[in-house]
Amino acid sequence: MTSPLIQFVNIKKKFGTNIVMQGLDLSIHEGETTTIIGKSGTGKSVLLKHIIGLIRPDSGSILFAGEDIVKMGRKEIRKFKQNFSYMFQENALFDSMTVYENIALPLSEKKVPLDDVKKKVKLRMEQMEISATFSKYPSQLSGGMKKRVALARALVTDPKIVLFDEPTTGLDPLRKNTVLSMIKSYRDMFGFTAVIVSHEIPDIFSISQRVAMLDSGKIIFQGTPEEIMASDEHKIRSFINGYEDQELE
Ligand SMILES: Nc1ncnc2c1ncn2[C@@H]1O[C@H](COP(=O)(O)OP(=O)(O)OP(=O)(O)O)[C@@H](O)[C@H]1O
Ligand SMILES: [Mg+2]
Repeated sequence: MTSPLIQFVNIKKKFGTNIVMQGLDLSIHEGETTTIIGKSGTGKSVLLKHIIGLIRPDSGSILFAGEDIVKMGRKEIRKFKQNFSYMFQENALFDSMTVYENIALPLSEKKVPLDDVKKKVKLRMEQMEISATFSKYPSQLSGGMKKRVALARALVTDPKIVLFDEPTTGLDPLRKNTVLSMIKSYRDMFGFTAVIVSHEIPDIFSISQRVAMLDSGKIIFQGTPEEIMASDEHKIRSFINGYEDQELE
């Protein structure tokens, strides 16, 4: 197997007395989709934010193509972040900008010519079925609509690595499947590396090559979707069964 693109080595992080990571190891491979699962509040969003240097660990290393992000200064981080696109759990849309302006923002920041910006944004909006929201403001949109705007914005720059924090939460089942297959087809088309935090178990496994489960500050499982589904480890079984039971209700 190739060496990992991103590697967490013995990461420790606490906020005051709240210990969130206590010796976390994780490998993310180029061109693959890695899904992070785990209970609410276990630190999945905190983990994603470590990848792009938004949150710094107390100790440990995060290697990106062999280089330690933890040791990088602000300037270096800014440059390094250009490889990434991040879809935040809370969408993080700018309320004072229209939908079009929100999606166009990452391209304008990259100084892409205006005609290309228009073309790209329009295409992504059509693909996401949000063309009708072109001149609306985020506050005028439903939760599911905001999610799709955030997704369009995350994919508009054709990034090398995309971090998705719960990309389908709050969407109806039909849109949920559309978003999942869209992530998959974009990945197949552009070959980006994806890290997805998701509660859509087991649906999310169909678009993932690797699954990692976070629990009590550590990755307690890392492997293929088939391996996690076949695991008889108690913590893993009860977590996955919990989702399956929910679906039966
Ligand atoms: N910036 C911060 N400052 C202080 N505490 C934080 C900060 N961000 C997260 N935390 C704490 O870290 C812990 C992990 O939070 P995180 O948001 O990563 O959980 P999560 O696994 O993403 O949960 P969910 O599934 O509900 O989104 C929580 O106890 C949270 O309160
Ligand atoms: Mg979260």
